[in-house]
Amino acid sequence: MPPVLCKAPVVQQAAVVPGVYRLAFTAPEIARTVQPGQFVHLRVGSTHDPLLRRPFGVHDVDRECGTVSILFQVVGRGTAILAEVRPGGVLDVLGPLGRGFTLPAPALPVALVAGGLGIAPLAFLLRRLAAAGIKGSLFQGARTAGLLLGAEETVPGFKRRLATDDGTAGHRGSVVDLFTASLVAGYRYAYVYAAGPYPMLRALATRMREYRLEGEVSLEERMACGLGACLCCSTGVQSDSGTGYARVCADGPVFPVREVAWS
Ligand SMILES: Cc1cc2nc3c(=O)[nH]c(=O)nc-3n(C[C@H](O)[C@H](O)[C@H](O)COP(=O)(O)OP(=O)(O)OC[C@H]3O[C@@H](n4cnc5c(N)ncnc54)[C@H](O)[C@@H]3O)c2cc1C
Ligand code: FES
Repeated sequence: MPPVLCKAPVVQQAAVVPGVYRLAFTAPEIARTVQPGQFVHLRVGSTHDPLLRRPFGVHDVDRECGTVSILFQVVGRGTAILAEVRPGGVLDVLGPLGRGFTLPAPALPVALVAGGLGIAPLAFLLRRLAAAGIKGSLFQGARTAGLLLGAEETVPGFKRRLATDDGTAGHRGSVVDLFTASLVAGYRYAYVYAAGPYPMLRALATRMREYRLEGEVSLEERMACGLGACLCCSTGVQSDSGTGYARVCADGPVFPVREVAWS
């Protein structure tokens, strides 16, 4: 479905943990068609500064109410402005954009591996997989226990395994180490979905290659148009015929893990 540009009334804005917000807005056309892994491109503020939109993966949708939610972290000026938006305000939204995760999963059981804010798009995927009766494990990592967003939620058919860098919840260490430990213990996953910081995804890709696992990762790049026209979000990709470039906004943000030319 082609993306729509709309004025979306904000219906919820709440700090989930310090510096991380959940924002919901009404955009029925986007809510009706958006798929896990796709993103929305938001204008932050009402002036031309900042000029460029900011991309955010869709965290949840309520198709009946026509609402779309994002989960975002304040990292700079744009997200700081977005954190000030209140219910009753109106956002300028372009979406849904990009290519999402492959659904249904090509093979079962699945593993979802989320690092930090990577849980934002993966939570939407998780709910969709669970609703389809698909089973598997969610490996979720964060710096510390308080940043394990949604860790208390139970999802039918999915076992949630936690990792924290400081050991305050679950495994002490990275989520990739936790995932690797399960492989060493003999667990096998027919398909892996992942989102999180680039170094974490690169480490995961290495493990997946070692264990011959197939799957998809959601990549992030700085974006301008979000529509595939400006090429500013290019990333290296590889195939049997050689290496090249793909646009994260239009050819991704979700890519088969073996197609990414990790740098
Ligand atoms: C497809 C996609 C989906 C995303 N989904 C989410 C999400 O669900 N939740 C969320 O919190 N963030 C998400 N992001 C990242 C989000 O777009 C950036 O954090 C945001 O644009 C930063 O804007 P800013 O003006 O606050 O920061 P800026 O002032 O522009 O930058 C502040 C810092 O953030 C870094 N940064 C900015 N944009 C990106 C980016 N695209 N990728 C990596 N680092 C960046 C900059 O290098 C800099 O260090 C996503 C990005 C992409 C491309
Ligand atoms: S942001 Fe313009 S091509 Fe991707």
